[in-house]
Amino acid sequence: MKQVYNITDLREQITNWTLQEESKIVLVPTMGALHEGHLTLVRSARQLGTRVIVSIFVNPSQFNDPNDFQRYPRDEAKDLDLLRQENVDMVFTPSPEVMYPQPFMTTVSVPEIAKDMEGAFRPGHFDGVATVVTKLLLQTLPDFAIFGEKDFQQLCLIETLVRDLNIPVNILGAKIVRDEEGLALSSRNTLLSEDGIAQARHLNKVLFSIARLIQTGGVSISEAQGVGLAQLAEAGFDRVDYLELRDAETLKPVTETNIGRKMRLLTAVYVEGVRLIDNVQVNNASDWISGFGK
Ligand code: PAF
Repeated sequence: MKQVYNITDLREQITNWTLQEESKIVLVPTMGALHEGHLTLVRSARQLGTRVIVSIFVNPSQFNDPNDFQRYPRDEAKDLDLLRQENVDMVFTPSPEVMYPQPFMTTVSVPEIAKDMEGAFRPGHFDGVATVVTKLLLQTLPDFAIFGEKDFQQLCLIETLVRDLNIPVNILGAKIVRDEEGLALSSRNTLLSEDGIAQARHLNKVLFSIARLIQTGGVSISEAQGVGLAQLAEAGFDRVDYLELRDAETLKPVTETNIGRKMRLLTAVYVEGVRLIDNVQVNNASDWISGFGK
């Protein structure tokens, strides 16, 4: 596995591959602290293409809270080991200076997607994500790039910017990977104590139960949301940023009139001061009938 630190070396290797062989390049952008969720993305990448590139960059511009940036988990040696075991072809680990050479003056912004939920509670976060993802895609120009559905709003934002800016890449979303009790895997879970993990495991149960309630019908959206918020409070989540039912394609709020469309129930909560997000698809019964919400 090759490790490169700058854009010249990254592009040189990609050019060599494309000149020497018929390669399909797949990029998996990450911020490191890799877990089974990331490795699932890497395995999907391997199925799709001949060359798999993983980027590891804890992007300072997407952290609205400097403390969150400081304590974001980092373990490059372990990440590299895991990626070697997955036969990744190349790892791109740029420094902040490589990613943002000074003076850096450009921001990519998708305000229509970024204006609420994560964007409302983390001002500037999505501008940071949109800018770094645009850069990673243009630096690599892969055939495919894969992102997890756990960051569902982020995935919609990336699909939108790629479409609007005509970036020649196929964006793929990968299903959320959950532990044996349904907790969505996240690098931030490593910041939780055992009690914190036990508490966090209630989150998916509430989401699946509200998804089931909406699916079954007979309650209004706002009633279902009220029941969800009450269940979250009962489960001990004392800070809930949002619990929202949204159109899965446009991310616009769902009303009683467009309830037939594909929907997503999204939430962000705090456990032991750590912010966790999760979401479930609502109107695909198979998602939860065989899932964890039973
Ligand atoms: O989802 C993440 O890990 C990050 O937001 C991403 C897409 C790698 C951009 O920094």
